[in-house]
Amino acid sequence: MFNYLLILHLLGAAIWVGGHLILALVILPKVLSSRNLDALLQFEGQFEKIGMPALGLQIVTGLWMAHNLLPNTSAWFAFDNDISILIGMKLSLLLLTALVAMHARFWIIPRLSADNLNGFAINISLVTLFSVAFVVVGTLFRTGF
Ligand code: HEM
Repeated sequence: MFNYLLILHLLGAAIWVGGHLILALVILPKVLSSRNLDALLQFEGQFEKIGMPALGLQIVTGLWMAHNLLPNTSAWFAFDNDISILIGMKLSLLLLTALVAMHARFWIIPRLSADNLNGFAINISLVTLFSVAFVVVGTLFRTGF
């Protein structure tokens, strides 16, 4: 069972992280130099349809695997052994991702214009960095610190 959860977790990670890397490294630089928002809005609109379900899959499979590794959920926040520290780091990254995404959705995007792209660029860069950090922290479950 754990193996199937891990396969789904890795497929979801490929979509979430890959999509954000393309957004941050390919689309964003183009939009920042051309100041033409269309490519950004088009990518966002299309990526949302597969990116949000992928993040949902990460949360479900991640919590499930965490529960397999450490069945007592109150121990998740004890930060007293490698596994609980790593689960705590994953959940902290999730919280940070949600905060930045909500800030973008309710504050930055309604005010978005060609002259007002920097806030959005910072948001995209942060969510992309968090997504890579999710992967790095994920690998530490296997290798240890
Ligand atoms: C976008 C979000 C996430 C990404 C990109 C991601 C990515 C990864 C990656 C690449 C691994 C390494 C798998 C391996 O060693 O073969 C991993 C492992 C893991 N992740 Fe995530 N993860 C995400 C969210 C979460 C969340 C929210 C949790 C919930 C606590 C979580 C829990 C775990 C656990 C428990 C493992 C260890 C699995 C094992 O023993 O191999 N992940 N993650």
